[in-house]
Amino acid sequence: MCIYAIESIFVSSQRSGLDPPRSEFGKQSSLPLHLTAPRAMGLNDSSGSLLNFHVTSESVSLLTYFVSRVSTLEWCVTLVSAFLVWLWWYRHAQSKVAGPKRWPLIGSTFELVANWDRMHDWLQEQFSNEQKTILLAFAAHLGDAVYTVDPANVEYVLKTNFANYPKGEMQCNLVRELFGVGIFTTDGDLWKEQRRVSSYEFSSRTLREFSTDVFREYGVKLVLHLARFAESTQAFDLQDLCMRMTLDTTCRIGFGVEQGCLAPSLPNVPFSQCFDEVNYISFHRFIDPLWKFKRALNIGSERRLKECVKTLDDFTYDVIGNKRQKITSSTNKDEKGADLLSRFTDLCKNGEKQIGKMYTDTALRDMILNFIIAGRDTTAATLSWFFYMMTCHPDVGDKIVEELYTVTQQPAADHQHTHPAGSPAEETIEEFSKLLTYETLGNLHYLHAALSETLRLFPAVSADAKQAAHDDVLPDGTVVKKGDMVGYVPYSMGRLTSLWGDDALDFKPGRWLGKNGHFEPQPLFKFTAFQAGPRTCLGKDSAYLQMKMTAALAMRFFSFHLVPGHPVQYQTMLILHMLHGLQVTVTPRSYSLIQVVQANSIVGSLP
Ligand code: HEM
Repeated sequence: MCIYAIESIFVSSQRSGLDPPRSEFGKQSSLPLHLTAPRAMGLNDSSGSLLNFHVTSESVSLLTYFVSRVSTLEWCVTLVSAFLVWLWWYRHAQSKVAGPKRWPLIGSTFELVANWDRMHDWLQEQFSNEQKTILLAFAAHLGDAVYTVDPANVEYVLKTNFANYPKGEMQCNLVRELFGVGIFTTDGDLWKEQRRVSSYEFSSRTLREFSTDVFREYGVKLVLHLARFAESTQAFDLQDLCMRMTLDTTCRIGFGVEQGCLAPSLPNVPFSQCFDEVNYISFHRFIDPLWKFKRALNIGSERRLKECVKTLDDFTYDVIGNKRQKITSSTNKDEKGADLLSRFTDLCKNGEKQIGKMYTDTALRDMILNFIIAGRDTTAATLSWFFYMMTCHPDVGDKIVEELYTVTQQPAADHQHTHPAGSPAEETIEEFSKLLTYETLGNLHYLHAALSETLRLFPAVSADAKQAAHDDVLPDGTVVKKGDMVGYVPYSMGRLTSLWGDDALDFKPGRWLGKNGHFEPQPLFKFTAFQAGPRTCLGKDSAYLQMKMTAALAMRFFSFHLVPGHPVQYQTMLILHMLHGLQVTVTPRSYSLIQVVQANSIVGSLP
């Protein structure tokens, strides 16, 4: 192309019928111009050293002559050609870099945008058993990122050198409006203190008992909707039902408020819609270099984000105000409520001055919204993928029901009450739900394995990153520069054959069970769906509790069938939701299987 450019200059001068003004070529003189020419372009001498061009008055005259003879179009062609050559060289120079090639200024944005809808699979394709760490260049506003699926690197980043890998301002600022300065978007002492207080509250027996009751209550509500859909043989979006349920439960457990998303009419709840929109817009900032500009002008998506945040804030501050009032006026301990907000507000009232100072209305608002996003989206998304797996693997569903029967030892008469179409009556569902205590759920090893297998293949948080505080070197030798993002990718890790065997892509809950049929956890830095190290998920046990409660209730009474032709695809967002929801029909589960199980008394014979 360079050659074409030079030729075009000569052709143009010949076409014009004028010879260069040779008389003006003067003596060699002055102005030595030093250029560094890359070897790859073949412009350097054989030793590859610096080239010396001497600018003489003759050559200046020649240049002036050419400049005067060449048309604007030809200049454009020349410049574009030179630019394309440079671009080719820029891309060629990266042939040994692990990961997708980058473009100047915009990094790998083209590739990211082109693969946006299949981002996690595209990222997975960048890794292999041999190539476990890659470099990814975002647009200039985000900088470079190192992504790894190597458990040794993951352990180093999340635990061994934890201090060097905070979340970092750049990432936190992208989601600041939603998360504020809550536990998800803080580092250092502010994070430490929130973690300390939250860990204490999360592990309290009172909260666990309260949560179990709430999960049971709303699990029953969800299953009653399933019974209605079974009666009408109508298709419906199961992901939507799961999201409604988890918003209701997080609001009840988080601040003792009834959102009513699972009310019989399945109403539209503005809080829920705004929450989703803020989540979506915040995530898009990753590939939108103009978002700050839009925010400054209050236009487009940034304007919508502001409106939604206001709806969330109005609701949340209202709840906090009411709660403070209730706590202040109440003398009776029982009236205070077991929800998290009551407990924190109570701490502010009675507790140490430090905590009181920490939990201003704004801090409580951030705490609540962090808690909702932590508990609502992750659990609902995982349940949706779990039910999707049940539509693909009915044999796994049968085993789950076998185990349920074995563990609950439910009498055969339990299904006496049914509707004409065969779906269970409300009292049957409620009766069964009472058998699902914290202890019973703890004995459902196969169900626990099926949920873990779902999280292995469809981790709710599919990729997560930190930001390096200082230059560093990862255990596999990858160099990290201060300010680089360093991420681990649970989605890709869960599908790596070197970690999970040749059947890594198959859904096989049995891989999580030991010889005695009991659940056996995998190493923390191999199965990273809940992160690991000092910032490991605080709600893991609570999430399993709710997922097991809901799955046990639903699977016990119904079989799930995907609507033919319904596309199941993830949405590229902070949390792995399904883009088109999960359209299913349900049918009452056949009781013949249950009776066979009872007759054969298969206690303990599960795989
Ligand atoms: C299947 C369900 C869940 C999954 C897969 C999950 C996964 C995760 C992951 C990957 C993180 C690290 C995020 C990051 O640092 O950016 C995290 C953090 C956290 N999770 Fe979960 N989570 C789930 C459910 C829950 C629930 C139900 C709660 C609470 C009710 C919860 C509370 C938290 C909190 C408070 C943190 C922040 C920990 C910290 O930064 O110190 N999670 N979770």
